[in-house]
Amino acid sequence: QNERESLLIVLQYAKNYFQKILQEHDKGQSIGYSYFKERGFSDSTIKKFDLGYSLEEWEGLFKQAVKEGFSIEMLEKAGLVVRKENANDKNSVRHYDRFRARVIFPIHNVTGKVIAFGARILKTDKNQPKYLNSPETEVYHKSKILYGIYQAKQSIRQEDNCFLVEGYTDVISLHQAGIENVVASSGTSLTEDQVRLISRYTINITILYDGDIAGIKASMRGIDMILEQGMNVNVVTFPDSEDPDSFVRKLGGEEFKKYIKASKKDFISFKTALFLKETEGDPVKKAGVIREIVESISKIPDAIKRAVFFKQCSALMEIEEQTLISEYNKIVLKKN
Ligand code: UTP
Ligand code: MN
Ligand code: MN
Ligand code: MN
Ligand code: MN
Repeated sequence: QNERESLLIVLQYAKNYFQKILQEHDKGQSIGYSYFKERGFSDSTIKKFDLGYSLEEWEGLFKQAVKEGFSIEMLEKAGLVVRKENANDKNSVRHYDRFRARVIFPIHNVTGKVIAFGARILKTDKNQPKYLNSPETEVYHKSKILYGIYQAKQSIRQEDNCFLVEGYTDVISLHQAGIENVVASSGTSLTEDQVRLISRYTINITILYDGDIAGIKASMRGIDMILEQGMNVNVVTFPDSEDPDSFVRKLGGEEFKKYIKASKKDFISFKTALFLKETEGDPVKKAGVIREIVESISKIPDAIKRAVFFKQCSALMEIEEQTLISEYNKIVLKKN
């Protein structure tokens, strides 16, 4: 039995352990389960995503897992247990649970195996990160996986589109509203490997990042990453301080779907709208925006698609197509 398989087994054990605490332990019920209920998650949603709870204990999982025969080394390698050496005495080593007093979001790979966990504190505390995630391990490479891909892949194929959100709870709330073709980049910037993962199921991505400035900036970076892979990208923006989870709860599923349809923009319209709002007709700034858009178009590998977007940009920005194309040629020359 190789190490990868052993890790998957201990991770599955931990998933079941956290789930059982949520479902059967008094504290799991009164703290963890109540938290999910307050967020509007139904029982079937909680099951669908294998959600769990970790008790406020230093060695809850650790002791139980060792009793079941799992080695300390495996627990450590799986990222479940943290090893702490005593600074004064090199021979004294302590182990404790990484996830304590948090609600647990298991992260599944494409085939449905649990490979890592995200864990949220219940009350905001500026001394602790809101979400604690598994470290990189032999089976978990953050930059290569998307949260929710296992639960979404069939629907992504069916809808021929993938919604891309920031967070765990965005994925879950959209599922509950009947939108299942959704995955999360989990707060980090979108990587080439993640875009390739989506491309197994569709070439169309719709970005639904948070309505704050961070979300808009991340959308900008995401757009170029997606275009470079030869895929199509649209963007939906939300009011500041809303994210897909909060907004779908506010509007309800049907209204939310209507909102998506009505405010979905292709990348040029998205960039144009955003910058025009800031520039207010300043010609120097307008030139900057146009350059931005040509930069994005230059990422598109397909010449016909590029031509279509040059036309669109020319019309929207009221500028000669030829000017755009010569700017594009300069970019290409610089690259080579
Ligand atoms: P957000 O701050 O937008 O959180 O981070 P959220 O998903 O809306 O979570 P709620 O609604 O407050 O529960 C987006 C994502 O970034 C990652 C998580 O994956 C989160 O879902 N993140 C955020 C972390 O990994 N650590 C953090 O401390 C914060
Ligand atoms: Mn590896
Ligand atoms: Mn955010
Ligand atoms: Mn958010
Ligand atoms: Mn949120």
